[in-house]
Amino acid sequence: MDLSTPYLGLTLRNPLMPGAGPLCDDLDTARRLEDAGAAALVMRSLFEEQVTRAEVALLRELEGLAGGGAPRAPAGFQLGPHEYLEQLRRLKAAVTVPVIASINGTSEDARWLEYARWIEAAGADALELNAYHMATDPFECAAAVEQRLLDLLAAVRGQVTLPIAVKLGPYHSALPHLARALVDRGAAGLVLFNRFYQPDIDVQALEVVPSLQLSDPSELPLRVRWLAVLSPLVDCSLACSGGVHGPLDAVKAVLAGAHAVQMTSALLLHGPERLGVVLDGLRAWLEERGHASLADVRGSMSRERCPNPQALERADYVRLLHTWHRRRA
Ligand SMILES: Cc1cc2nc3c(=O)[nH]c(=O)nc-3n(C[C@H](O)[C@H](O)[C@H](O)COP(=O)(O)O)c2cc1C
Repeated sequence: MDLSTPYLGLTLRNPLMPGAGPLCDDLDTARRLEDAGAAALVMRSLFEEQVTRAEVALLRELEGLAGGGAPRAPAGFQLGPHEYLEQLRRLKAAVTVPVIASINGTSEDARWLEYARWIEAAGADALELNAYHMATDPFECAAAVEQRLLDLLAAVRGQVTLPIAVKLGPYHSALPHLARALVDRGAAGLVLFNRFYQPDIDVQALEVVPSLQLSDPSELPLRVRWLAVLSPLVDCSLACSGGVHGPLDAVKAVLAGAHAVQMTSALLLHGPERLGVVLDGLRAWLEERGHASLADVRGSMSRERCPNPQALERADYVRLLHTWHRRRA
């Protein structure tokens, strides 16, 4: 069974990989992921705030003549910028699969963007760009929000020759247009989607409480829908991120057009070996249906190729709302 897949200019042995997060903070876990079949590793993001705070702390240290040295992890962050690069080098030495680094920020601040270049120099095989941004300014229109993302990509593009995948949120008003514009500006891939962690309200303390809940498969259909819509439209790699917990979740992502399938919550919940379970299940699904390769089925349920594209559009929404009946117990 040929499970190989093109992703960001690389040829991966299969589509499965851990998504950006804490899984690659530790070399032992990274090796277990590779042993379980991960075709690449995605590191957690290096955040713009991390770089800025570490730089400020270093300057303070230097001003106080209290030593100095490379920027280290500021409070609240797992790795400082320097340690991030060190971890990348260690991962590259520890595994044979490609290592994808990730940067996360919103401004075109030169100091932060320089880290993209250092990430390339440290040996990353590709780079994810996550521009987690909450559009809360009532004077900024959607086109301006999108333009900032395009400018940010151009700025990162100017720093590196690495293939760049942009990790998008689902809340853009004209996603296909934005996706095409990103590809035109040099994005080699898109990761669908970033997860916007939802704060809650503590009604006793009357505070907004940040909360990070791990995903479940109910998050997948949003990804599958947009993979199915975008895959015929954009000439770039597509990765699914969000809600992949079992083999059939991965099958759905690939049928909709994903080249790569990322898992984070499921691996945090069940351990790195869960990736092997999903991989075995994906292979078995293909074998049972007589397919010789993953490429045979990728995108076969995209909006262009599925038998009922209206199910992805407004028409089915209208029909569903009008034909809904409460199921009798
Ligand atoms: C603990 C944790 C840390 C994460 N850190 C990052 C990060 O540093 N950068 C990033 O782009 N996404 C990060 N993510 C988001 C994941 O990469 C992924 O997009 C999201 O969890 C949805 O996928 P899942 O349903 O497989 O968990 C993190 C997720 C979790 C749960």
